Amino acid sequence: MDSIRGFKRSSYCGECSADFLGKEVSVCGWVQSIRNLGGLIFIDLRDRSGIVQLAFDEKTPEEVFRKASGLRSEHVVAAVGTIRERTSKNKDIPTGDIEIEVTKLLHLAKSETPPFEIDDDTNVNDALRLKYRYLDLRRPSMQRAISLRHKIVKAARDYFDEQGFLEIETPMLTKSTPEGARDYLVPSRLHHGSFYALPQSPQQYKQLLMIAGFDRYMQIVRCFRDEDLRADRQPEFTQIDLEMSFVEEDDVIEVNEGFLKRVCRDVLGQEIETPFLRLTWKEAMERFGSDKPDMRFGYELRDITDIAAACSFDVFSSPSASGGSVRLINVKGGAKMSRREIDSLAEYVKTYGAKGLAWIKVSENVTASFSKYMKDSEMADILERAQAEKGDLVLIVADNDNSVVFAALGALRCECARRMGVIREGELKFLWVTQFPLFEYSKEENRLVAMHHPFTSPMDEDIEFLNTDPAVCRAKAYDIVLNGTELGGGSIRISRNDVQEQMFKALGFTPEEAKARFGHLLEAFRYGAPPHGGLAYGLDRLVMLLGGKDSIRDVIAFPKVHNASEPMTACPAPVDKKQLDELGIRLADEKEESV
Ligand code: AMO
Repeated sequence: MDSIRGFKRSSYCGECSADFLGKEVSVCGWVQSIRNLGGLIFIDLRDRSGIVQLAFDEKTPEEVFRKASGLRSEHVVAAVGTIRERTSKNKDIPTGDIEIEVTKLLHLAKSETPPFEIDDDTNVNDALRLKYRYLDLRRPSMQRAISLRHKIVKAARDYFDEQGFLEIETPMLTKSTPEGARDYLVPSRLHHGSFYALPQSPQQYKQLLMIAGFDRYMQIVRCFRDEDLRADRQPEFTQIDLEMSFVEEDDVIEVNEGFLKRVCRDVLGQEIETPFLRLTWKEAMERFGSDKPDMRFGYELRDITDIAAACSFDVFSSPSASGGSVRLINVKGGAKMSRREIDSLAEYVKTYGAKGLAWIKVSENVTASFSKYMKDSEMADILERAQAEKGDLVLIVADNDNSVVFAALGALRCECARRMGVIREGELKFLWVTQFPLFEYSKEENRLVAMHHPFTSPMDEDIEFLNTDPAVCRAKAYDIVLNGTELGGGSIRISRNDVQEQMFKALGFTPEEAKARFGHLLEAFRYGAPPHGGLAYGLDRLVMLLGGKDSIRDVIAFPKVHNASEPMTACPAPVDKKQLDELGIRLADEKEESV
């Protein structure tokens, strides 16, 4: 192998252009492909910027030609040569008009045949891609995604710095607070039986930084949550986290609209309009069946509980008596769907708890799955409420539990939009959802839990209900939603001790329990807490959406797979008994004699 000594790169491969005609350049990278035509050899050389063609012909020094003929895919080389016009141009790549007539070639490393071709078009299964992630990352689309991530992080740091925010690091070894998702725990060697928790977010620390007087804080920070993985969820993920003092909700929203505007301009070159649309949580649920609605298409929900209440169809009439509802969406142009397709939609809503899906097809005639139970006048009322026209398909979900109706229709709305191809791809539809409920009921724990976190302030006009009817309290909480994904969330925090105490009481904590869990924060609040609030973005989700990807896995260099393992390093993995002994840990399934 040759040595790199004395070699200096003058250009990245993708930067070579006709501007350099006749000039000498030096490039380096990986062999993407090699075409050996006997007296002529062409090599596509790839680095992170793109591809350039290296040419070897009868004018090439013999030793260089021989070396070139020995190269194979993914070998590492450096080349020096002159840029010349290509005889047969390649319109598919930016450097396709030129090639490098190589005069000097360094063969820096060989490569075994990779387990898959390093190419965006290769169809490789995810397990293999992630086992050889360093090869997968060589693919141009991955290189672009990771570089986009860098640009977004840079835009965030630049913008928040200009706005007077200080980046301050907070600890990774923290105290477990059993609210929210499951913690990742780290055993302490020096305190057997005690554990640190990896932070689910720096929430408490950033509030303490406000009490400490830093006024405006931000951090690009890793967070850890032991929860089930989805396309937009990883056990470790990154937040752009911020907190501000002496502010109200509108101030936080304004700074963040500025940030998103800036990111879209700097990173995508796209101007987006501010202020963004705002919907209250109630409106979002009633119109879209979701607290993170995708606004790139219509199909809004309509409530027909009142019409359905009077009909003889029990499924439709019973929800009105039991506090549930009957709602519909009008899938414009959906009447062309076959019975089979509609049946598959019925199966789809079942996964959201709906017991069934009623439908009305408005074609030449009106046909409905429930027509025999309906008077013509009732059917006409429903169609009028749906604003249905010829060609439409009306889909109806009825349930005694409103949350089932919303979940089913909210998801169905998106599924139908996908099937009908009506989602305006390429559009960025930002939306604030505000006035979330302060609490939600946890069936698992049979009590109210904080919908956001226990430090979120109730709305001023709802504080009086904290003691009497906490379930109706709304929060000064807001989510930023982009194209149907929750990009970030935040709130104005409680900065009055009496309100915080009422909050803990509503959550079912005794004063002693609250002190044991959050004593440090409660104590800090006694020493002058400024009014404050903030927000955190899921950075991975932001990169995914701006990069047009379907999963945050595609914008994280080394992600975990669905069972939270990492195929490349094969972690998590068992550890030596000696390590466990030091930590004072004995595994439950360890045999007594081996202890
Ligand atoms: P929240 O829990 O809403 O708020 O998290 C903020 C944002 O982080 C992203 N996110 C995730 N991304 C990938 N994988 C996950 N497992 C995951 N979990 C959350 C989402 C989400 O909107 N401390 C508060 C913020 C605040 O109140 O200021 C918090 O963490 O995009």
